[in-house]
Amino acid sequence: MSKEDPYSDSQLASMGLDRATLPKHVAIIMDGNGRWAQKRGLPRIEGHRRGVTSVRNIVEEASRLGLQQVTLYAFSSENWKRPRRELTLLMHLLRQYLVEERREIQRQGLRFRVIGNLAGLDPMIQQEIQTTETLSAQNSGMTLCLAVNYGARQEITDAVRQIVNAALQGQIKVDSITEETIASHLTTAGMPDPDMVIRTASEFRVSNFLLWQISYAELWVSDKHWPEFREEDFRTALRDYRKRDRRFGGLNPGASG
Ligand code: IPE
Ligand code: IPE
Ligand code: MG
Repeated sequence: MSKEDPYSDSQLASMGLDRATLPKHVAIIMDGNGRWAQKRGLPRIEGHRRGVTSVRNIVEEASRLGLQQVTLYAFSSENWKRPRRELTLLMHLLRQYLVEERREIQRQGLRFRVIGNLAGLDPMIQQEIQTTETLSAQNSGMTLCLAVNYGARQEITDAVRQIVNAALQGQIKVDSITEETIASHLTTAGMPDPDMVIRTASEFRVSNFLLWQISYAELWVSDKHWPEFREEDFRTALRDYRKRDRRFGGLNPGASG
């Protein structure tokens, strides 16, 4: 058996997991890179660099577990507020990841997608994204989605603009606008909503991440910083998810009366 083979039912059971109660889509706010580095007297960028190892580790684990999608918050539309030097290094790291990871994405049969305002990125990065998306589009494995230059309020604003334009041109009737209309104009159109959001580094906030899509997601916060987050931590989150009681506003069977 190779290291990347999907886990069997008995392997899952030995981890305290089972296929039926795994989330389909997990979204992760990868936070704490800077703090991880600073605690060790290293420059912040070292934390980002180490964070790439965690990305590889978690993506491979999620794929072996048979998840349908993992979405990773890599860079927010608000992160441009950071010092220029950090931004340059972050963009360099992103480009390097896109190029170096291509082979691995193909080997694991992952479908690669990026959400966010791509037009605001360096054209060379846009090109690398496009290459990997096209190359991996026909793969049948897990979807690996990166949120880059992503902000949920901007995404919703863009959707509203598109819908209003379509209505003004008579392509849709205002009365026929539904939740599905809005969802289909978001950059996540066609993707399942996340069942679970994991955030590292002990922060209990969503920082403009997938605001529409996480309406009923289960939240899970880790006290580990992203560069030290590994598959065992991911499995702990999934075991906790298993115990969650997702009611979606309803009641459990037998709870009425
Ligand atoms: C997350 O780590 C990565 C990005 C936001 C790009 P941070 O850089 O936010 O690390 P902390 O939160 O400052 O420790
Ligand atoms: C959220 O982390 C964005 C990413 C992980 C890419 P931040 O570090 O930017 O969030 P805040 O500023 O603590 O809310
Ligand atoms: Mg942070």
